[in-house]
Amino acid sequence: MLTIIRFILWGAIVVTVVVMGVLWMGWLTPGPQSPNRTISTVEFGGLFALTNHKGEPFTHENLRGRPYAVFFGFTHCPDVCPTALWELSELMKKLGSDADTLAVIFVTVDPERDTPEALANYLTSFDPRIVGLTGTPQEIDAMTKLFRAYYKKVPTNDGSYTMDHTATVYLMDRQGRLSGALDRQEKNTIQLEKLRRLIARGDSD
Ligand code: NI
Repeated sequence: MLTIIRFILWGAIVVTVVVMGVLWMGWLTPGPQSPNRTISTVEFGGLFALTNHKGEPFTHENLRGRPYAVFFGFTHCPDVCPTALWELSELMKKLGSDADTLAVIFVTVDPERDTPEALANYLTSFDPRIVGLTGTPQEIDAMTKLFRAYYKKVPTNDGSYTMDHTATVYLMDRQGRLSGALDRQEKNTIQLEKLRRLIARGDSD
């Protein structure tokens, strides 16, 4: 009888040690908050309220749980913006239905001219899943600050103006954290791989 009790007690001690060991290992393993999982832990992105190219409200809530690519530009842009939108459209075509969970957002830095109607017209040339966003000058300014995007109105000789602006395509993960960027110089295959990885990353990654 005493041997059985001793056996049970020793068994309990062994189980306790193993459980504590497993817990300890768990604490040592980096969790989702580990800084090396994202490029930057600096605050980037955040809460916003804008209007999409259909004239409907569009906020950070519309992106909840979705990976997205975001970039800033304007419809009168002579080459950088149309090229970037065309390249993104080609990438989305290659991704096929995998791109359905990915949100691709084009935010105007020229809200004066880029009304929802102007954006809707412009976007007919590109992948129909791309969302154009506009707002009041204050709303747009707040949005550019969230994404550290630069923009500036530059007068042109014809009495009109153009916009200088950041042309980086930022990649944001499902948690709304900066995950990377598409480099305009890099190969199409590398960009495609970046988007595939962004889409494949689960909620707990
Ligand atoms: Ni542009």
